[in-house]
Amino acid sequence: MAEKIRVLLTEEAVDARIREIGEQISRDYAGRRVHLVCVLKGGSFFMCELAKRITVPVSMDFMSVSSYGSETKSSGVVRIVKDLDEPLKDKDVIIVEDIVDSGRTLSYLIDMLKDRKPASVALCTLLDKPDRRVVNVAVDYTGFRIPDEFVVGYGLDYDQKYRNLPYIGIVELD
Ligand code: IMP
Ligand code: MG
Repeated sequence: MAEKIRVLLTEEAVDARIREIGEQISRDYAGRRVHLVCVLKGGSFFMCELAKRITVPVSMDFMSVSSYGSETKSSGVVRIVKDLDEPLKDKDVIIVEDIVDSGRTLSYLIDMLKDRKPASVALCTLLDKPDRRVVNVAVDYTGFRIPDEFVVGYGLDYDQKYRNLPYIGIVELD
């Protein structure tokens, strides 16, 4: 099926907002270091840009999870496909996600990572679709709240396409 992409958030708007979040994290974590945990693949573009805007010492790690259930509806039970390389113990962890939708994946992930005894865990997401929330998750840093539309770009995909768009767009099916 052919699809069109309508711009929702321009490259300039996204970059400016990431710069602001980076400044805010740098203030909030002054005198500490932050350990960014990227949820692959969607969070990767956001995390790299965000890390460049943080002025306190930064370390980064990556994990990949897949949720059991159908493609369109996540069950909330998460299987680790690629685990982190390093322990989280005593680290100030910030989970970096592309989007919080139902919240199922993240609430499961946060509990799992808290078991590893980090000093703290915060959640940072580029996009939030609050209308879709099923499970309550506390988001500490949000780039943009967006309406209930399927979006791509800046790491987000539609059938593995469009992750590399430098802006956020809405998928319109003909
Ligand atoms: P949930 O919060 O457990 O429902 O799952 C969130 C995950 O679903 C995200 O990490 C994305 O991978 C995917 N997702 C949700 N909404 C969108 C969207 O609009 N575009 C692309 N992926 C999405
Ligand atoms: Mg994701």
